[in-house]
Amino acid sequence: MPYISQNFIDDLPNQIDIVDLISKRLSLKKTGSDYRAPCPFHGGKNRNFAVNSHKQFYHCFKCGESGGAISFVQKFDNLDFVEAIEVIAGEFGLKIEYDSNTKPVDPRLERYRELSQKVSAFYIQQLRNSPAKEKAVSYAKNRGVSGEIAKRFELGFATPSNNDLLIEFEKSEQDTSDLKSLGLLKTGQYGDYDFFRDRLMFPIHNTKGKVIAFGGRAFDNKAKAKYLNSSESPIFSKSRELYGLYHARKYSRTMDYVLVVEGYMDVVALHQADFTKVVATLGTATTPEHLQILARTTNTIVFCFDGDNAGRAAAWKALKIALPIIKAGLVIKFLFLPDGEDPDTLVKKESTKAFEARIDKSHTLSKFLFDHVKAEVDFDTIEGKTLFLEKVSVLISQVNYEIYQQQLIDGVAQVVGQSVDQVQAIFKQQAEQVISTSFDTIPVIDNEPQMPDFSDFSDDYQAPNPTPQENSAVKALMSRMISLLLNYPVLADGTVEVRVRNIKRSEVLLELVRSAQMDEGISQEDLITPFHSKVGIYERLKELCTLVPHLSETQAKDEFLSALTAAERRQESAKIKGEISSADTLEAQQKIMEGIQKGKSR
Ligand code: UTP
Ligand code: MN
Repeated sequence: MPYISQNFIDDLPNQIDIVDLISKRLSLKKTGSDYRAPCPFHGGKNRNFAVNSHKQFYHCFKCGESGGAISFVQKFDNLDFVEAIEVIAGEFGLKIEYDSNTKPVDPRLERYRELSQKVSAFYIQQLRNSPAKEKAVSYAKNRGVSGEIAKRFELGFATPSNNDLLIEFEKSEQDTSDLKSLGLLKTGQYGDYDFFRDRLMFPIHNTKGKVIAFGGRAFDNKAKAKYLNSSESPIFSKSRELYGLYHARKYSRTMDYVLVVEGYMDVVALHQADFTKVVATLGTATTPEHLQILARTTNTIVFCFDGDNAGRAAAWKALKIALPIIKAGLVIKFLFLPDGEDPDTLVKKESTKAFEARIDKSHTLSKFLFDHVKAEVDFDTIEGKTLFLEKVSVLISQVNYEIYQQQLIDGVAQVVGQSVDQVQAIFKQQAEQVISTSFDTIPVIDNEPQMPDFSDFSDDYQAPNPTPQENSAVKALMSRMISLLLNYPVLADGTVEVRVRNIKRSEVLLELVRSAQMDEGISQEDLITPFHSKVGIYERLKELCTLVPHLSETQAKDEFLSALTAAERRQESAKIKGEISSADTLEAQQKIMEGIQKGKSR
């Protein structure tokens, strides 16, 4: 953790305006000498929350929360002190001063960021000056992008040449090698060449407005890949970045809601139509991280999808990801566009007002949930209604926010025409079943890649011919525990360590438990760094970092301990099976069986 200099912290209130800062997050109304809004901390409709520009201070007259800029961002964006300062500095374009006696951060990161910025400047310059620029300029014009909006998004041009970028940077060996790490240069049979060629370039900015990656649009719709994106790198992870978030914050007066669309061009076209509260995922499905990030910016997320089957499927996926993340004050909605339209085409056909009117009429999450499941069953029959109840209760059980969960149950009662009590009973039964079986099944993760065996370090253990099912069940348990630990390092304590040590093939988990105990506030990155040279394992650990279960600390602990117990039981029963099959006399077998019986009645 780098230390921010005390001078910088002390001076921060003089550098920014708390009203600006908060109005990016709440819709403030000038009232007398203060600005007022409903309090984001205790909820409620009345404008009890006051922001005073003169004192650079906020205060809620109802719940008493109060403080300055940093404290507000900490609480509202749910960040720690240093992160809050970084966010504020980013939003106001301040350069943070760090103390000199700090642990150096990975030096590559700063280099990669600076280089990306230079590459972006290069692509912009090509759009202005390259002899081939006409193609790009007229493409942008044909798609209705004005000079102003091209400038806002820092659009650029990768020329048709194989090596314009290479030539620009080849004087520096470091740059060349870094460009390869960023996926902007590739190495082929005949040497290095530019990855992006003959494309309109969209730099991807982080929330602080710095370029961290690129997307490139082919000029020809028939090109092999219509869009290409930079590869993942230490400064860019698709699952965590949203295209246009920086611009949405910068150009929107309030962020009372954010529209999530599918494409770069949709974001740009909507800005062109003066609609700025929009972000796009980067050619991937929405992830929990995306939602967490958005939830810090707004209290209403509106997902926008095509009205066709693919759009509905993507929306359904987003709904399932959103369920565990919904919390007090966060509303999720769904907007389905007419078949074959996307925001870009639609906003060009109709006015911005008409488009906004569609957003006003978007579906609530509960409506989409009920409609979707209803359509999956034969709802007019008793059997269909039963199936409906089962399916819906499994989904509702994923909601961690209890008040909302109760509202959904009330909603279900209405839909099926039964009393809330009846539905509640079914729901409870279902939830219990889900909990008791969840550890015997492999976690349902779309396209989960094959996990490397976490036994790479141990050669002393021979499993007694475990069946493939047993193997994958143990692996699933191991993954679950590791994922929980990576996200909740506080889970690690001495007792856990002793139990983990007794589990076979738990070397990776054990090492993580040990590191986590040594440093309570350890970051995920520091936790997994020791595995850097173990490529398969490192990659898998990185994945497990992002499969964040959204649980309270207590829930996480419960889950972790249940998984640990399940793993212990599986190991015990595997051991017994092994003993039974190797016991050569009937007597020996009987002895083992007796042992099991005793163990059971214990
Ligand atoms: P779409 O195919 O819906 O394209 O891809 P679009 O946004 O309407 O693009 P235009 O209007 O034809 O220019 C949506 C998003 O999916 C990703 C990109 O992020 C794109 O913005 N994508 C699409 C790719 O990454 N690669 C592709 O080949 C296509
Ligand atoms: Mn489009």
